[in-house]
Amino acid sequence: MKINTAITAAVLCFAAMQAAAQITAPTATPTPMTNVYGRNPQLLNGKWAAIIDPYDQGVPKEIYLDRTPQNDTEFFEYAFDGGMRLEVPSDWNSQMPELKYYEGTIWYARHLLVGEKASPREGQCATTVEMPREDERLFLCFGAVNYRCNVYLNGSRICSHEGGFTPFEVEIGDKLREGDNFLAVEVDNRRRTDAIPAMAFDWWNYGGITRDVMIVRTPKVYVRDYFLRLGKDGGNKILFSVDLSEAASREVTLEIGELGISKTLKTDGRGHGEAVFETKKLKLWAPEAPYLYDVRLTCDGATIEDRIGFRRVAVDGTKILVNGREVFLRSISFHEEIPQRMGRACTQADARMLLSEAKELGANTIRLAHYPQNEYTVRMAEEMGFILWEEIPIWQGIDFTDTATSDKAHGMLREMITRDRNRCAICLWGIANETRPSQARNAFLKSLLDEGKSIDTSRLFVAAFDNAYFIRENDRFEMDDDFARNLDVVAVNKYMGWYAAWPKDPATIRWEICTDKPLMISEFGGEALYGQHGNAHRASSWSEEYQAQLYADNLAMFANIPNLAGISPWILFDFRSPYRFHPTNQEGWNRKGLLSDRGQKKKAWYIIRDFYRTKRNEQSKK
Ligand code: GCU
Repeated sequence: MKINTAITAAVLCFAAMQAAAQITAPTATPTPMTNVYGRNPQLLNGKWAAIIDPYDQGVPKEIYLDRTPQNDTEFFEYAFDGGMRLEVPSDWNSQMPELKYYEGTIWYARHLLVGEKASPREGQCATTVEMPREDERLFLCFGAVNYRCNVYLNGSRICSHEGGFTPFEVEIGDKLREGDNFLAVEVDNRRRTDAIPAMAFDWWNYGGITRDVMIVRTPKVYVRDYFLRLGKDGGNKILFSVDLSEAASREVTLEIGELGISKTLKTDGRGHGEAVFETKKLKLWAPEAPYLYDVRLTCDGATIEDRIGFRRVAVDGTKILVNGREVFLRSISFHEEIPQRMGRACTQADARMLLSEAKELGANTIRLAHYPQNEYTVRMAEEMGFILWEEIPIWQGIDFTDTATSDKAHGMLREMITRDRNRCAICLWGIANETRPSQARNAFLKSLLDEGKSIDTSRLFVAAFDNAYFIRENDRFEMDDDFARNLDVVAVNKYMGWYAAWPKDPATIRWEICTDKPLMISEFGGEALYGQHGNAHRASSWSEEYQAQLYADNLAMFANIPNLAGISPWILFDFRSPYRFHPTNQEGWNRKGLLSDRGQKKKAWYIIRDFYRTKRNEQSKK
């Protein structure tokens, strides 16, 4: 190719990229519909066609058109048919060795075949979809895509979404045609300074369509959102609110058979409806008795099934109360990762594995680190009786001065709360992890906290701080962070014996932090390579003995914290992290797990198991 032609081609290509970047496609529906799984969804899971696009050439080449040569001179330097395949849901990193560290763009594609005439071409990834009836709408719903994506249908970009851990949806019923419909999803997991999380975070940057993809059929006017919870006044009043997709007046029927509730209400002109039910024989949800009711909502012939529990959570001085009873949070954290598979947890079976290990440890609480995890995990945790702390990934290095970043954080908070506020097991919404005090950070978090409290007053709000220090002249731990007082529960991450040496005998150390509020130790621990044994007093041994001693010392210190309301060891399993460099002790793994990446119990596991047994026996006497 002559130089000037090449330059022209490059300029045209760059211009096309710029143009594509400026197409302001509609973003995903502002707040996705509640409880997609309860709406009889059609799953689009399985093998999807894929193209790796590290130089972002897919847009200038318009590969979302999926063109095939129509004459002898035409050719295209791409094809989805007969090419690479990726499993959905899953991360791409664990599916091919070449993708282990990949950060960039990958295109996923699938054909939606509508009507009897449509049949898949040889080797095509396709799903048959019924054309919506006149009185129906069709939505394409994603459980999550990490980190940002553009969705194209039949050559048009129909929505974009940013945020790797919350659901989004886009209406497609009015865009489908008889026959073949080409769906392409351009996914980009590159880290960016204005992203949440930002440029460096201590977990693997798993990219891809990491959760279920579903099609949901609804009437023209449907129930978009609803919220069922116990009134806060201590009685057995159930509060119900419902919002339709449109500002329309429709009859909505709520049935909770076991409670003898079957109520049809009419929404007002805004599409909003409310009701209050007095119930006599309500069985409350609690960790030791996680009772859930079958709930059914009907509107214009469409039914939504759910399972909902009722409980009250509150703070009384330094205590956390569930249903009026003080509860000590015997917590554990885990990432959304199956270490044995070195990949994202994304199925019911994955949820069961992680939660069964938490149950065996004796936990009654899970801090879902550090982002909203998939609905299988949240719903199963509720069925199994775990109190949940769920958070958005405001994790260290966030740019608190950037308004666009603040908007993203608010969007993630709304998507998390809208998705899960009917999950009574969630008692704590977490809004930040290890952020540094500043005027910008305080304003950013206060704005988040205000919005969270405006959406949901039935839960506590928390944030984890890592700026608690031992002040030698006062001979105690203190924390100078004026934002902490805005929260219902104050949480501190502190790695005594690991990132900080013991200033004195752990059993003599005192804490004086927000002593009028419940305090949770939301992270502590140290690293040990399973099966490695050595000096219990030398960190560089990376030994199980050192980790076990560290745990014993921390528990001795915690005994002196007057307002301690719970602890959460970091972390249940060893987990993958790109900046854990040690060649033999880490090899890209953070080894703070109580369990190895193979699920083997380290000595420290038994220390926490025994401590939680003691706390559970104390709890049963309260
Ligand atoms: C921090 C952070 C965790 C991280 C941990 C560690 O407290 O919250 O996400 O993994 O420390 O250093 O292991």
